[in-house]
Amino acid sequence: MKTLIKNGRIITAVDDYHADILIENDRVSMIATKLDMESDRVIDATGKLVIPGGIDPHTHMELPFGGTQASDDFRTGTLAAAHGGTTSIIDFAVQYKGESLIEGIDNWHKKAEGKTAIDYGFHLITTELEDGQIEELHTAMDEGVTSFKMFMAYPGVFLVDDATIFRGMVAAGERGGLICMHAENGIVINEIIKRALEKGHTAPKYHALTRPTVAEAEGVHRAIAIAEMAEAPVYIVHLSCADALNQVRQARDRGIPAFAETCPQYLFLSINDYDAPGFEGAKYVMTPPLREKSNQAELWKGLKMGDLQVISTDHCPFCMKEQKELGRDDFTKIPNGAPGVENRLSLIYNGGVVENRISLNRFVELTSTAAAKMFGLFPKKGTIAVGSDADIVIFDANREQTLSVTTSHMNVDYNTYEGKKIKGVVECVLSRGKVIIDKGEYKGKTGDGQFLKRGTCVAM
Ligand code: URP
Ligand code: ZN
Ligand code: ZN
Repeated sequence: MKTLIKNGRIITAVDDYHADILIENDRVSMIATKLDMESDRVIDATGKLVIPGGIDPHTHMELPFGGTQASDDFRTGTLAAAHGGTTSIIDFAVQYKGESLIEGIDNWHKKAEGKTAIDYGFHLITTELEDGQIEELHTAMDEGVTSFKMFMAYPGVFLVDDATIFRGMVAAGERGGLICMHAENGIVINEIIKRALEKGHTAPKYHALTRPTVAEAEGVHRAIAIAEMAEAPVYIVHLSCADALNQVRQARDRGIPAFAETCPQYLFLSINDYDAPGFEGAKYVMTPPLREKSNQAELWKGLKMGDLQVISTDHCPFCMKEQKELGRDDFTKIPNGAPGVENRLSLIYNGGVVENRISLNRFVELTSTAAAKMFGLFPKKGTIAVGSDADIVIFDANREQTLSVTTSHMNVDYNTYEGKKIKGVVECVLSRGKVIIDKGEYKGKTGDGQFLKRGTCVAM
């Protein structure tokens, strides 16, 4: 099967040029100014950007959480991702207490296998790691799960103590693996929550008011300090505010391998969204919570200057009906998480490139290349180059769209960006050489996606 993409403007993390691309089977086989060989399919990309498929390294498809389960499963969630120009996700498998690490991974394989529209890998949420389990962690890495999420938040659910974090960092670090840290002081946050509930503060906004930025900054500081003692790198997930970013900045200025991602919700939404009428603020109950608007400019600066390396979504949708509603009388019972996997690329193009905050190259780097390098997928994924998987998005930078639940493919009953007008539309998506989205229509089939056995982090 040969496909030619003609006349496009190819953008990678470092290049910007006009050329044609020949795809043979699932890979890019040739790139040149003009290619005119016989092919089975020609895609005319005149006037369009040709960019690497997005990589979202932070999703939670069908995660059991908060007494319910994330509403997108691997079928609906990856279909939505594909519509939005994302061709690989890295989802978080869970090792529950009492389970082996490998059991946790096997359980997620069962959820995902044969169901995805795009390629997928796993991190592993690790809730127990004694000395006797270190070998298992290395086995997980041999099986392509090379990063592990640990939580300083959610006591009694996912939280692990500092000793476990240290053990994890040493064990992963000695093999080139990575600990992804949910950095928030969940123990103190729980005390603040108790006091809020005693005062009758039950509305969604109190989710944000009981999780101050200093609780996140303390978590980030501690995570980096433990990583330093373990002589290992650390990757902070869903970083939401300037206080936390400053901890990463200071560490990086000292030459410490501390990395971090942020997410669109922290760049475009704010604590004011919790003031939506009635119970609508529940739509934005996620952890860390939305912050004061002033944090947004700092996060953009962090993205531009390289202190933040990746933009993921933390896609973890729950419907308002029957799910978020669980917390109508008590914000602590609102399942934490929000949708986003479908809208990331266009949102970042509009808010980043159109609004002159980052370059086109940096846009590609933040939404694809950096995640590929960080999580052992580069150069198979994350770029357009001879030999790389033909995961390619034809992006119409001039067309506009209005984000809405009515046009979205995510299996959830609201969109956090409802009514937002943005420039930039995903027109065509190829996953390993196969057109899976064409002019907004899905052309693939369930189960097209393959498991990504990942390597380790490429130096950033
Ligand atoms: O609110 C969130 N972020 N839900 C998903 C779980 C997590 O902590 O990433
Ligand atoms: Zn988290
Ligand atoms: Zn998450």
